[in-house]
Amino acid sequence: MNAAKQEIKVKRVSSRKRSRDRFKSDLTPAKKKGGMCLLKYPPNDLYGTTMADTNVVEYCSDSEDFFGGYDSILEDSSVLAKLDYAEQNERQQDVQHAAQDRPGNRQGTNFTSLRLSKDSTLKRACDDVLTDSILEGLQDEPFDYLPATQCEFQEQILENTKRHKHHDGEKTSTPLRDTEKLAEADVESDILHKTKRQRDMPKARRSVADQLKRTMLCNAAAPSSVSRSVVLKEAVVSEEISVAMQAMETVSAETTDLGPFFGLPSKVKDLTYKLKGIKNLYDWQEKCLNLDCVQERKNLIYSLPTSGGKTLVAEILILRELLCRKKDCLFILPYISLVQEKVRGLASFGLELDFMVEEYAGSKGKFPPVKRRSKSSLYVATIEKAHSLVNSLIETNRLDSLGLVVVDELHMLGDGNRGAIIEMTLAKVLYMSKTTQIIGMSATLGNIKDLQMFLRAENYTNDFRPVQLKEYVKLRDTIYEVDPKEEECFKFSRVLNFKYSSSMQKIDPDHIIALVTEVIPTQSCLVFCPTKKNCENVAGMICKYLKEDFLKHKEAEKALLLRELKDSGNGSMCPVLRRTVPYGIGYHHSGLTTEERKLVEEAYSSGVLCLLTCTSTLAAGINLPARRVILRSPYVATDFLKRSQYKQMVGRAGRAGIDTVGESILILQDKERTMAKTLVCAPVENCYSNLLHDDGKGLLSLILSLIGLKVTTSVEQVTDFLSQTLLHVQEKQLCVKKSLWEFAQECVEMLKEKGLITVTTDSQSEALQVTRLGKATFKGSVDLTYSDILYSDLSKGLEGLLLNSYLHLVYLVTPYDMISQCKPEWMIYFRQFTLLSAAEQKMSAAVGVPESFVARKAAGQSVKKNVNMEAVTRMYLALVLFSLLKETNLWNVAEKFQLSRGFIQTLLNSSSAFCSCVLHFTEELEEFWPFKALLMELTRRLSYCVKAELIPLMEVAGVMESRAKQLYNAGYKTLTHLANADPSILARSIENLYKKQASQIVASAKMLLNEKAAALQEEVDDLLMIPLDLPSH
Ligand SMILES: Nc1ncnc2c1ncn2[C@@H]1O[C@H](COP(=O)(O)OP(=O)(O)OP(=O)(O)O)[C@@H](O)[C@H]1O
Ligand SMILES: [Mg+2]
Repeated sequence: MNAAKQEIKVKRVSSRKRSRDRFKSDLTPAKKKGGMCLLKYPPNDLYGTTMADTNVVEYCSDSEDFFGGYDSILEDSSVLAKLDYAEQNERQQDVQHAAQDRPGNRQGTNFTSLRLSKDSTLKRACDDVLTDSILEGLQDEPFDYLPATQCEFQEQILENTKRHKHHDGEKTSTPLRDTEKLAEADVESDILHKTKRQRDMPKARRSVADQLKRTMLCNAAAPSSVSRSVVLKEAVVSEEISVAMQAMETVSAETTDLGPFFGLPSKVKDLTYKLKGIKNLYDWQEKCLNLDCVQERKNLIYSLPTSGGKTLVAEILILRELLCRKKDCLFILPYISLVQEKVRGLASFGLELDFMVEEYAGSKGKFPPVKRRSKSSLYVATIEKAHSLVNSLIETNRLDSLGLVVVDELHMLGDGNRGAIIEMTLAKVLYMSKTTQIIGMSATLGNIKDLQMFLRAENYTNDFRPVQLKEYVKLRDTIYEVDPKEEECFKFSRVLNFKYSSSMQKIDPDHIIALVTEVIPTQSCLVFCPTKKNCENVAGMICKYLKEDFLKHKEAEKALLLRELKDSGNGSMCPVLRRTVPYGIGYHHSGLTTEERKLVEEAYSSGVLCLLTCTSTLAAGINLPARRVILRSPYVATDFLKRSQYKQMVGRAGRAGIDTVGESILILQDKERTMAKTLVCAPVENCYSNLLHDDGKGLLSLILSLIGLKVTTSVEQVTDFLSQTLLHVQEKQLCVKKSLWEFAQECVEMLKEKGLITVTTDSQSEALQVTRLGKATFKGSVDLTYSDILYSDLSKGLEGLLLNSYLHLVYLVTPYDMISQCKPEWMIYFRQFTLLSAAEQKMSAAVGVPESFVARKAAGQSVKKNVNMEAVTRMYLALVLFSLLKETNLWNVAEKFQLSRGFIQTLLNSSSAFCSCVLHFTEELEEFWPFKALLMELTRRLSYCVKAELIPLMEVAGVMESRAKQLYNAGYKTLTHLANADPSILARSIENLYKKQASQIVASAKMLLNEKAAALQEEVDDLLMIPLDLPSH
């Protein structure tokens, strides 16, 4: 296959989406179309956009799905938390009381008390029974099949748990085994289950349904008048508790600095050492944490060079919020891979310190989040998911439960559509919650003042870097040190020492081999290249001239890596990696499958690979430092590097704790010298609002969601909201021809025109309101450009939905914005088409792609008939996905359709994301009711696209298909198996799984299991809760 051709075909340069003509014409700036326009672009360079190539995969692989299946009955979690607290106290008293009393007066208690769902003792009794039953359900079966190696460990765990539990209350994170639970339930039920009926309940496990039935029967039998008065009384008590708890909260907030470790228990310090290897904080970290503004919970932006240790400060502040103030936190990270890494890393903290860590990335995450009564939650989210999460909290009036929002890489505010989403999210939090603190961090911020004004934040800046970074440039065969103090910016350092043959000189005129062999294989090196193809070429070229000695370095580990790469491709392997890995060299860009990327990253981190060639994606996405960073040229694709991009790339040089110094070398040609001076010495670019980016799509969707969430109901209110955005701060620079007020007005008009909002009028006033389509659009986070097309496609789809195959459904969720990135190969199209069943072909014809058309195209004939080419290409992509669902082998499908595996991976990720968007879209529209169940299952299938048996294992953050297969084959078949595994045994029984990774897998599995059990428990509690407004007669 022609790789170069393929490259062009699948290239996705930016995350900007295709706009449909009509919409575009409305929003195209005047200078572009020469007529009236709504949104005026600022000059291009005003957008401090970073990493043009950065989001290629990750952006489209994330969904913006909205409201998930969970529908909570209760509204106020804080009251419940307080009641739980009160209940616990009371329960303790009861335990003492009952101990004196037993067997005593049990028959005296009647069912009325059960009806009082908030009655401390008995509600607890109910809880206990149900808790057991649910946990038993979750844990019961897998134990029978637990791998033999783990049995001993389980015995030990149970022993410990038993001791621990008696000692320490119910704090175990590993659910107990049946027998154990029942033994304990016996003790407790003697004390707590006061009704005879309850006491007589069989000890065997009961289903939740049984419990529900029984409890409701009890409730129904109770005289309602009693319940009513008690309910009222309880409301008063609850109010009192609430006030008391608030007072306590204030005290605890005021005294957080009294904790031994920045207001936190010293256990946190121990864990930081144990889990992160960090013994002492850097001076700046201490200083920053002790700042007055931080103590006062003011908003904060802090800015330090790359590898400065920014994350730890954010994490300590998050822990403070979770543990001291008992509030939930949102941690926003730019990529799915980073979210997963963070979830894995923080799960152990969550288990030890008793808070939840919840993943919001890809198709994961519940909207609104599950209410936790006894624990606070840390939501780790991608940019898009964070926005949906905040929307769902606003919609359910729960935004105040969010104590802290942390945004990593805050400069991404200037990054196109994604920047616009960060701005919307933060603006909504600022506008809607006075108690939520916002913290942003970045290494590359130019105009901090603007951002400070937007976030009403304090600023802390420091230029600390644990490992000194020395920046060099190479011109011909001379290396110069970058020194802004020098007039020329560059100071002579040395002449490069190399002996090149003439053929080598021809192949490697930039002396990359000479530069890399100064450090590898004993030290690590990253070579940033301008394009994906160039990455592969450079990796191959370097290997060609490396000595045989390189093959011997870590030979066994490299052989293992090759095997794993092969397994991940189900027997297929990238020919470039096959050649380069034996030399310890790999490449990294968005053309790899997710799994290959992960294997390459891990191998590089552990030193098996000593050199990676990569695109700029790697600079922003992952924490993979190197002793030496080489920038092969000052370009990303055809664009000259931006200062912030340069900073991010060279910032990878120097590994904390390993190197004493890190160095970067930028390779320059003579003609680039002047531009390069600006690049290495100028201040970083400013970061500008992106609400007007892409024809103002951000602003339109912001206004739609504000109206949808009922945050604003008039143009005046919309403008009032907008006056608190970054766009407003930068209005002078960005709104050149029109004021923000005019923009707001025109956006509202446009939304009306598109039928997404409408005006309702009563006798006194007018109010803006979303239409049904508008509501579905914003809830599904569907791009406004496509919402009406989606509606009509789905309506047409319903008329003859083909259900004996996935093809029709897959077609309906094939993302519109992928269409422009693919050109069908007609022969392949035709061949695949002929393999379809008659019903599938008929369906295809019904959506506008008849066989005759494809056949003619394949035969090279011209077709006069008017055919919708978008539908034709979309069907082609649907065939790719259909094929993928059938055989779950990405490599085979790539081969079959002659597409790159990176493209197929992108298509799959963005389809699963879009599928969940379509699901939420249809949920808002009654006429689409049949889609709900269908799309729920399809989302799951597209998200994992593996054999069904592996899905439960792949739910654990960062476990991919081949790892899941290994685990499954070793006997770890369910989440419960993983949650109960001993990490040491796990590491021993799974090839190439390090102890640290094993511990993280186990911790994440435990967290996920806890999360699922708690969600079920809360649902049960909600079901059993008696409505306060229950009619009493
Ligand atoms: N006090 C400390 N002592 C030792 N190592 C530390 C300390 N604080 C952080 N580190 C380590 O330094 C490395 C870099 O930290 P971190 O990822 O927080 O950098 P950063 O400032 O976020 O950089 P970037 O801008 O590149 O994301 C990490 O491996 C982290 O574990
Ligand atoms: Mg960081």
